[in-house]
Amino acid sequence: LRHLLTLDGLPRATLLQLLDRAGQIRDAAVGRVGKRTVLAGTAVCTLFFEPSTRTRSSFQLAAQRLGADVLNFDASTSSTRKGETARDTLRNLEAMGVRGFVVRHPDDGAVQALADAAGEGTALVNAGDGRSAHPTQGLLDMLTLRQAKGSDFSRLKVLIVGDVKHSRVARSDLHALRTLGAGEIRVCAPESLLPETDVTSGCAVGSDFDAMLEGVDAVMMLRLQRERMEEGLVPSLEDYHARYGLTAGRLRRAAPNAAVLHPGPINRGVEITDEVADGPQSWVLRQVANGVAVRMAVLEHLLG
Ligand code: CP
Repeated sequence: LRHLLTLDGLPRATLLQLLDRAGQIRDAAVGRVGKRTVLAGTAVCTLFFEPSTRTRSSFQLAAQRLGADVLNFDASTSSTRKGETARDTLRNLEAMGVRGFVVRHPDDGAVQALADAAGEGTALVNAGDGRSAHPTQGLLDMLTLRQAKGSDFSRLKVLIVGDVKHSRVARSDLHALRTLGAGEIRVCAPESLLPETDVTSGCAVGSDFDAMLEGVDAVMMLRLQRERMEEGLVPSLEDYHARYGLTAGRLRRAAPNAAVLHPGPINRGVEITDEVADGPQSWVLRQVANGVAVRMAVLEHLLG
């Protein structure tokens, strides 16, 4: 693998290799923060044209823990403000010797276009482009599901809920769940937030959250992507919470001890209540912890 741009079409063997390696890294790191040298002398840049807390910070930590030199490019304080293109930015950083780029961009396909423009020895990781793909979030979600429910996904019933239409996380999760052979994948959203039918092919799709929660082993909540809603939010936040907010009462419809995931940032009181987000069935902070291990595994695979 030269770049990691999407989980769509990623061979099952590669997906399993990355998850196994990330699991090893996580388990070896319990109780200590080790530093390795596999990327000593390699420069990695986080090139973000959209805000981020988790993805950017965890990639920086991951690269540092592998011994890389890490540059943090912030579009808001860079020559992007003077009109420099993303392509020229990448080529200039390459000229300084940067070999690995972790790129987030608001436009679908922008990271692929940068990968096409990059030099031969350069590797790119898509840290989220438009509504298309967020492959490392998909990987860390799968690692978390394995931790919560075991590695055999064949009997797993998973429900993905919320703003599926605008969600790159949902698309990457769906690609990974299909590749890993999840037993049953359900997708639930208000009709206004359902994506094109090809995104959910092979899934049970519906808009009745209470009905779709029945008996699931994992509930993967999504953030409302209001910055991508040209048409405004339909329904209103109050209606959304009433129909699609995950409350402790609703969660009782799922299987006992069902795992609750959310990629963050959370709109508390809208997608999920505090009681559930911070409760015993929440895997949200373990998702974040798994993000560092997954990103170490990816950088090691591409650049090590
Ligand atoms: N889950 C996720 O991508 O979070 P950030 O936007 O904070 O990186």
